[in-house]
Amino acid sequence: MSKRFDLSGKVALITGGSRGLGLAIARAYAEHGADLVIASRKLDACASVAESLRRDFKVRALPVAFHAGRWDDCERLIGAAMNEYGRLDILVSNAGASPLYPSLPAISEELWDKVLGLNLKGPFRLSVLAAEQMVKSGGGSIINVSSVAAVQPTSIELPYAIAKAGLHNMTAGLAHAYGGKVRFNVIMPGAFLTDISKAWPAEVHEHIKSAVPMGRGGKPEEIVGAALYLASDDASYTSGAVIKVDGGWAYQPG
Ligand SMILES: NC(=O)c1ccc[n+]([C@@H]2O[C@H](COP(=O)([O-])OP(=O)(O)OC[C@H]3O[C@@H](n4cnc5c(N)ncnc54)[C@H](OP(=O)(O)O)[C@@H]3O)[C@@H](O)[C@H]2O)c1
Repeated sequence: MSKRFDLSGKVALITGGSRGLGLAIARAYAEHGADLVIASRKLDACASVAESLRRDFKVRALPVAFHAGRWDDCERLIGAAMNEYGRLDILVSNAGASPLYPSLPAISEELWDKVLGLNLKGPFRLSVLAAEQMVKSGGGSIINVSSVAAVQPTSIELPYAIAKAGLHNMTAGLAHAYGGKVRFNVIMPGAFLTDISKAWPAEVHEHIKSAVPMGRGGKPEEIVGAALYLASDDASYTSGAVIKVDGGWAYQPG
C-alpha cells in the first residue's frame, strides 16, 4: 500500500521557496521525496536552500532567480523546470508581499501595479503555463497561497487583499477549466511569524493575540500539513477548495 502524502517521483516548483512559508513547504516536500525547483528574486538564497535540500533529503533541487510579477519571468521559470526535469507535477505559487503605504489616497499606480503583479498576475501566468505542461504528462496539483485579507480586507493592505481575493476567483475558474487533469486549490494563511511579521508594528502583534482565537501567530511548520495534503494524490478529489490555516481567525471559509 502506498504511503500517505508520498511525493516520490514528483517534481514541485515553489515560488518564494527561499524563506518563510515557502521554505517550510519545500523542506516538507523534499522530506516526502519530491525533487524541487526553488524560485525567488535572490539566486543566492535559492541556491543555499537547494543545497540544503540535496544534503538533508538526497533529492534534486534547482535554484532559479525570477520576479513573480513579470510575465516573461514566469515563462522562463516554467521553461527552466521543464529543461531540468522534463516534467512538473506540483506548483506552489507562494511568493507574495504587501508593501506599506501611508494612506489609501497615497497609493501610487506603481505600488498598485507592483502588488497586483506579484500577488495575482504572476500566479495566473504561472498557473496556466504549468497546467499546460501537467496536462501533457497526465495531471498535477497547483496551490495558490492567498491570505485571510482576501475575506477580511483592511485599509492597511487593500491592494494586496484585492489581489488575494482575485486569486480565489482565479483558482476556482482554473479548477473548472482544467478539472479533468489538474487540481487547483488555495491555502489561505492567517498571521504567520515569518520575515513579513518582523515589519508589523507592536499593535499588530497585540491585535493578533486578541483577534485570533488561538491567541498567537502561526509557526511556518504549521502550514505544511495543508500543503502536503493538497500536493499529494491523497487529495485526488479535492479541487477548487480554499483551506484556511489561521488559528480560527477568519469567519468566512473563502
Ligand atoms: N506571514 C504571514 O503572516 C502571511 C499571512 C497571510 C498570507 N501570507 C502569504 O504567504 C506567502 C508567503 O509569505 P511569507 O510570510 O512566507 O513571506 P516571506 O517570509 O516574506 O517570504 C517571501 C518569499 O517570497 C519571495 N518573493 C518576494 N517578492 C518576490 C518577487 N517579486 N518575486 C519572486 N519572489 C519573491 C521572497 O524571496 P526574495 O526576497 O528572494 O524574492 C521569499 O522567498 C505570501 O504569498 C504571503 O502573502 C503570509
